[in-house]
Amino acid sequence: MKFEGEDILSAGQFDRAGLDQLFTLAHRMRPIAQHEVSCHVLNNHIFGSWFFTESTRTRLSGETAFLRLGGHVVTMTDMKMSSEVKGESFADSIQVLASFCDIMVVRCRQVGEAAMAAQISSKPVINGGDGSGEHPTQALLDAFTIQEEFGTIDGLTVAMVGDLKNGRTVHSLARLLLLYPGVKFIFVAPSFLPMPPEILQEIDGKGHSCVEIDSLRDSVKQADVIYMVRPQSERMTAQEQADVSMVLPQFRIDREFVEKRCQPNVRVMHPLPRNSELNRDIDPLPAAAYFRQVDNGILVRMALFLLLLGKENKFV
Ligand code: NCD
Repeated sequence: MKFEGEDILSAGQFDRAGLDQLFTLAHRMRPIAQHEVSCHVLNNHIFGSWFFTESTRTRLSGETAFLRLGGHVVTMTDMKMSSEVKGESFADSIQVLASFCDIMVVRCRQVGEAAMAAQISSKPVINGGDGSGEHPTQALLDAFTIQEEFGTIDGLTVAMVGDLKNGRTVHSLARLLLLYPGVKFIFVAPSFLPMPPEILQEIDGKGHSCVEIDSLRDSVKQADVIYMVRPQSERMTAQEQADVSMVLPQFRIDREFVEKRCQPNVRVMHPLPRNSELNRDIDPLPAAAYFRQVDNGILVRMALFLLLLGKENKFV
């Protein structure tokens, strides 16, 4: 696949060769990310970081990645201080913001708004999360983490647990994992928060094994990866919020669960932020990969910026 000048809107736009290229480059970013080697390859580039809804990791990870490559960042930390409050439309805002930067990340409220931004913007747009739609860069760092932890993704069994209806990271990750032969899916969610049917159809169409289950207890015994997501209350209907509070305790894991009901070599992942679904007593275990995901996010975003800006051969 071609990267230079492209928008990154969905995990579905990647192919396996593109992922291999991205992950090989991400691996080489580590000394720069850890500040052992300095790099100025993006020193005449500006990254626009536009978040219309809350973020900690995605915004700061992207900005850190760009800064580590010697670039510059313009950002808006509080949309209440933006012209949106004066009634400026999303379309007008994006058109204006595009003239301030060379590449941008946009986090939006509604599914499809990142694609709308990409149509308006003359500069490459990265979808930093659009409502309950997709979050492709999170999926890239998740897949990279799985590869780093296991040496391969092919043939692994990946369980996704929690609010699979509204959790955009699992939508994107499931799509990416379809590029790896033999990956098996176990989806564990309350019956009213299932993985969306269009993703189940894509999995079926590609011939991957997939099990849906609404009870955690023994369902993830075979899983190599347990990918937890929090209940996305901000995107739930009032009825879903009431119902979810009743079933939440059934979708939590702790150290005892990991030690007694999982594979010895299991990896527990989470895009963060966590609520009560992931007990802190797991943190010291080698299985806990979620803070390594955060570190890997910087590497993957650095590699992605270099590829989108056509600088992948010029960073040394
Ligand atoms: C996720 C998101 O915003 O979708 N967080 C992140 O980007 N790391 C997950 C979440 O909010 O639950």
